[in-house]
Amino acid sequence: MALKRVKEESYSAGDPMGLGELGGFGVYAEDADKSAEYRMKDLRVAVIPGDGIGPEITDSAVAVMQAAAKKFGLGLSHDSAPAAAAAVDLGLPPLPDETLKLCRESDAILCGPFGDPRWDNAPPAERPERAKLTLRKTFDLYANLRPVKPVPALIESSPLKRELIEGTDILIVRELTGGLYFSEPRGYFEDEKGRYGVNTMNYHAWEVDRIGKVAFEAARLRRKRVHSADKANALEVMQLWRETIQKLHDADYADIALKHIFIDNCCMQLVSSPKDFDVVVAGNMFGDILSDIGAQLTGSLGMLPSASLGEGVPLFEPVHGSAPDITGTGKANPLAMILTVGMLFTHAAKRPEIGEAIDNAVAKALEEGYRTADINRGNGFKLVNCKEMGDAVLKHLQ
Ligand code: NAD
Ligand code: IPM
Ligand code: MN
Repeated sequence: MALKRVKEESYSAGDPMGLGELGGFGVYAEDADKSAEYRMKDLRVAVIPGDGIGPEITDSAVAVMQAAAKKFGLGLSHDSAPAAAAAVDLGLPPLPDETLKLCRESDAILCGPFGDPRWDNAPPAERPERAKLTLRKTFDLYANLRPVKPVPALIESSPLKRELIEGTDILIVRELTGGLYFSEPRGYFEDEKGRYGVNTMNYHAWEVDRIGKVAFEAARLRRKRVHSADKANALEVMQLWRETIQKLHDADYADIALKHIFIDNCCMQLVSSPKDFDVVVAGNMFGDILSDIGAQLTGSLGMLPSASLGEGVPLFEPVHGSAPDITGTGKANPLAMILTVGMLFTHAAKRPEIGEAIDNAVAKALEEGYRTADINRGNGFKLVNCKEMGDAVLKHLQ
């Protein structure tokens, strides 16, 4: 299997996606624990706390990262660097050279959310979020893995009925470096009718092909089903997407059950029958939207981790944003960021057992009844703040 081609101390050789070890809230290969000889010895992590609740959740996540590395005897070093609005507030650009340099010299990037309401009316190119897009593009992180797997203790936190979501286990594979977010032409223009804005959705077949491979490979390690979400009924670019996915399937992945589904129907079905899905592959914009729907299956956006993988230094970030409405109140749920650390150990350090231990520690804290405000539905739970929730997880890793 792919894992055997991975060289020690190289996250990108042979199995750049780490699909041999889609750990924890994804799926990990049965023989992943036989990979000791390929394991990275020391892990250097660049930590970018980001904006809003970013620094609060990062404090908890870094404490968990340190505890988990210590428990499993993995050498770990980490340095923090500013980006986004936090960098601008220091008189720096949204993505300072020093921050990018630190990222280049690291094995993994642990990144909080970017975005600040003070820039809400600024053009996209000037917004702090752009730094996140630049990071993804710089390292060609084309595959964003967003697992959606409700923790059993939180089934009641979802607005959906227990019987609908119990047993749900979905991996959203979002294309992250192309499509509507990056294609040209883009910008503001003016003609005789006045000012207008332009964005373009391009996909080359090779881009669809490489994200399709990630989805099919992941499905092989899971329940062997892929839904490809597109809009082939209205958009040429999506017709090409569909044809390319179908060709790839027929050529190399005939063992996987492939279904093409229109994105609008996919949104609906994710809510009405989430258990029908295994791997869902989608373009950049559609994948962004689909993954926030996942939040209502897991109970909260504060429960969704992600890994952005590709050719360069892998980046690990929660799915949620900077949550300005609760920043500084202690209400932030650090679990998405903590689960993200789990994905970092699995994919960047090739240590799926550490990822699994973190997932288990989160599950235990929730079984003990700890709840941040966003997931505190029902009676009799222990309402805690961000730091207390982090500590509740930490005690299972010491
Ligand atoms: P958001 O994800 O920040 O918040 C949406 C809702 O979910 C809010 O009510 C918020 O309080 C809640 N929420 C999100 N994360 C939570 C957590 N960990 N714990 C508890 N509650 C949580 O989305 P938004 O309000 O649309 O965007 C706010 C800012 O974040 C914007 O500037 C946006 O561009 C940015 N953003 C950044 C990223 C990223 O960097 N990956 C992702 C999404 C949004
Ligand atoms: C996400 C976010 C980002 C995206 C924004 C902040 C640019 O919503 O990571 O889901 O759209 O990719
Ligand atoms: Mn999003």
